[in-house]
Amino acid sequence: MTPPVASVRSVQPPQPLALYGPDFAADPHGHYRRLRAHGPLAPVRIAAGIDALLVTDYQAAVDLLRDTHTFTKDPRAWQATVPADSPVLPVLGYRPTALFSDGDVHARYRDAINDGLAMIEPHILRAEVARVARRLIREFAASGSGDLVEQYARRLPLHVFTTWFGVPPEDRERVVEGIGGMFNSADDAAAAYADLVTVVTRLVADRRARPRRDLTSYFLGHPAGLDDDETVRQITLVMSAGHDPTTNLIGNALLHMLTDARYAGSLQRGAMTAHEAINEVLWQDPPLANLAAHYPRQDTEFHGVRLRAGQLLLVSYAAANTQSASATSDPGVRSGGSAHLAWSAGPHRCPAKQPALLIAMTAIEQLTSQLCDAELAVPAGELMWRPGPFHRALVHLPVRFTPLEVNPDAEPAGPSEVSISH
Ligand code: HEM
Repeated sequence: MTPPVASVRSVQPPQPLALYGPDFAADPHGHYRRLRAHGPLAPVRIAAGIDALLVTDYQAAVDLLRDTHTFTKDPRAWQATVPADSPVLPVLGYRPTALFSDGDVHARYRDAINDGLAMIEPHILRAEVARVARRLIREFAASGSGDLVEQYARRLPLHVFTTWFGVPPEDRERVVEGIGGMFNSADDAAAAYADLVTVVTRLVADRRARPRRDLTSYFLGHPAGLDDDETVRQITLVMSAGHDPTTNLIGNALLHMLTDARYAGSLQRGAMTAHEAINEVLWQDPPLANLAAHYPRQDTEFHGVRLRAGQLLLVSYAAANTQSASATSDPGVRSGGSAHLAWSAGPHRCPAKQPALLIAMTAIEQLTSQLCDAELAVPAGELMWRPGPFHRALVHLPVRFTPLEVNPDAEPAGPSEVSISH
């Protein structure tokens, strides 16, 4: 539903604002402030030669996310106008998955994903995350310093998702490289995504021949009747949609706890909890900052702006969430008291909010209970953020802390427990 407007604007600025590169990574909220001056939708450039309209207004974002009549998720008409080697295609280019389909097709893929995620037993998942967290912490605890992104936040979700799907240990690093590469939207993004697909294709062929007790076998046997390629694509979607944002949720929340005065600058003394830190980050620096690619089915008008059929619209979850943040410091009353949009809204909202929160909470609780005097090892202003328009992602999070005595025999790595119930 588009509210009535006095006049319809045509957005044709001389120069769309670049949402990629070091300037954007260093100050995304400054960019969002400038974009809001254009009204609810603003022109942006997300890679060389690739422009989009970015929705920065909360109500316009919600309206767009719910309006399946006016907008499609299928990018193919737009994609035909974009160079095949564009670095944004590994994220935005069409695949037969839930993310790029509408209506019944979407429902079929989404059923398999929802039913698969429902197989995850929360108490087993929590125990497994805690066990892996303790093992990862032991690897650097004796040194008194570590990188909480590289040595912790990036490795923990990888372990969880590759265990869910039964990815063999020798392929796990390739999976995380593939996912990281596609989100960076740099020149090697297509190769990174292709390598990820190669690994998952081999896995699916193996499970088609020899089913096991994992989500790959569950997807293959689901009543949706996915063929091998559809199975490969849903698995790739779940792992990539899950891994990078969960890593970044953990990293951004830890940074928040290390730097926000209310946490007293350390993980130990502050009164705020992991839950509060996560909630703050979901409002202020959501791991998926700008996405929800939608395309008008025909020429139309939306929140006072003329749109062409097939043109790319993105939603800035980060900008919409913080639209009225300057008016109050209480996250509960931002954006007029509504919920934040970090999990999106409408039919394509994240289907994995509960397991993602459980993983992030457990990861942060384990870390804060063990490295309780950890503090940033560099000034916060020197931290680097990964490039790319879609995510809010630290490169590193270096900390120092009192070294712990580590018993190398405690909890041997052992085989992972499978957290699914079928
Ligand atoms: C267990 C970890 C996660 C898994 C398995 C997962 C999976 C997925 C999947 C499959 C979709 C596509 C849904 C559809 O199109 O119908 C999705 C969408 C989405 N997820 Fe998650 N996700 C996870 C964690 C997260 C986290 C930590 C965040 C951020 C806080 C997040 C935010 C989103 C958003 C914003 C979308 C909409 C994507 C878009 O903008 O187009 N997810 N997720």
